[in-house]
Amino acid sequence: MTVTRGRHFLQIPGPTNVPERVLRAIARPTIDHRGPAFARLTHEVIDGLRQIFQTRGAVVVYPSSGTGAWEAALVNTLSPGDGVLMFETGHFATLWRNMAERLGLSVTFVPGDWRHGVDLDALEAALRADRGGAIKAVAVVHNETSTGVASRVAGIRERMDAAGHRALLLVDTISSLASMDYRHDAWRVDVTVSCSQKGLMLPPGLGFNAISAEALARSADARLPRAYWDWQSMLADNEAGFFPYTPSTNLLYGLREAIAMLLEEGLPAAFARHRRHAEATRRAVQAWGLELVAQNPDEYSNSLTAIMMPGGHDADALRRLVLERFDLSLGTGLGKLKGRSFRIGHLGDFNDLMLAGTLSGVEMGLAQAGVPFTRGGVTAALALLAAT
Ligand SMILES: Cc1ncc(COP(=O)(O)O)c(C=O)c1O
Repeated sequence: MTVTRGRHFLQIPGPTNVPERVLRAIARPTIDHRGPAFARLTHEVIDGLRQIFQTRGAVVVYPSSGTGAWEAALVNTLSPGDGVLMFETGHFATLWRNMAERLGLSVTFVPGDWRHGVDLDALEAALRADRGGAIKAVAVVHNETSTGVASRVAGIRERMDAAGHRALLLVDTISSLASMDYRHDAWRVDVTVSCSQKGLMLPPGLGFNAISAEALARSADARLPRAYWDWQSMLADNEAGFFPYTPSTNLLYGLREAIAMLLEEGLPAAFARHRRHAEATRRAVQAWGLELVAQNPDEYSNSLTAIMMPGGHDADALRRLVLERFDLSLGTGLGKLKGRSFRIGHLGDFNDLMLAGTLSGVEMGLAQAGVPFTRGGVTAALALLAAT
C-alpha cells in the first residue's frame, strides 16, 4: 500500500474542499430539531441563503443531493404530460432530461454538441412556435459541470420575454452558485436548483430550491405526485423554524458557517476570485497547446475547466497517474467525453497556491504520461496571478 503525506489535492469540480471552519462547525453536538435553538438555526440559514441566491423569495433546503433538488423543481411545478423545453448542453442536462421523461413529462430536447451552452436563437424559435402554450417550463443547466460551459441565463430570460411565452424558467446552478454571478430575482428565474458540495464548500447532503412567487402560485395546480419534495409542507413548517421530517442538523451548522464566510468575503469578491483562477487555468491550457471543451469564450465557466485530451491518449490514464504520483484528484470525462477529457475544479475554498499546485501536478502528469504538449502552462498561469 502506498502511504501518502501532506494534503490531498481534491480538484474535481465538486465535492470541493471543505474549509476547517466549516468542518469544526459541523463537528458540534447534534441538537433537538424541534427545539428553539434549531428554529433559530433554520431562520438564519434561510435568510443567508436568500443572499446567496440573490432573492427575496422562498428558499427550501432538503436533506438530499442535487438530483433530489432537480426532482423537487419538476414535481412541484408541473403536471403529467406537460411540455418541458431542455437543451443538450452536456451530461447533467441529459440526466435532468432523463428524469423529466421518467416523471411523465413531454420533453423537447434541443440537440447540442456538448461544447456550447443553450442556443438562444433555438430557444426563442421553439417558444415562438409553441402557439398553443404546450411548453410549461424551460429547464436549463447554468454551468455544465461535464463541459465547463456556462449558459447565459439573463439572455435566456430576455429571449423568453421576447417570445412573450409564459413558461416557467427552471435553472440548475449546482456548480455555479456562490462561484459565478447568479441572480435569481433580477433574472426572474422561477426555480433555482442547487446543492451543498460545490461553491458552498460543504460536504454533499443538502439540496436547495429558490422559488419565485409565480412558481409557488403554479405549484398549487401542479399534479405530478409529490410527498417528500412537497414545497407546501416544507414552507409551512419552515415558517416556525422546523422541517416536515428530520433535517440534516449538522450540515445546517456547516451551511451557516459557509454562508458567513461567503458574506464576509462578499459575493462580488468571491466571483472575482473564481474568475481570476479560471482565467489563469485557461492561460495554462493555452500554453500547453491543449484544447478546451468550451468553444465560445462568452460561455467559459469560472468554476471548472474541461480539457480535451490529444487524440490517442486516455484522459483517465492521466488522472490515475496524477493521483498515484501527486495525490491529485482531477475530474473524469463524463458521458460522451469519457476518456476524451479531464476536468480541473477551481471552485469553493481555493487560493492562488492551491491553483499553482494543481496546475503543477497536471503539467508534470502530462509529461510523465507521454502526452504531446508544450511546457510552460504553469509559468503562464503564475504570470497572470502575479500580475493581477
Ligand atoms: C450541474 C449538475 N447538475 C446536477 C448534478 C447532480 O447532483 P448530485 O450528484 O448531487 O445529485 C451535478 C453533480 O455534479 C451537477 O454538476
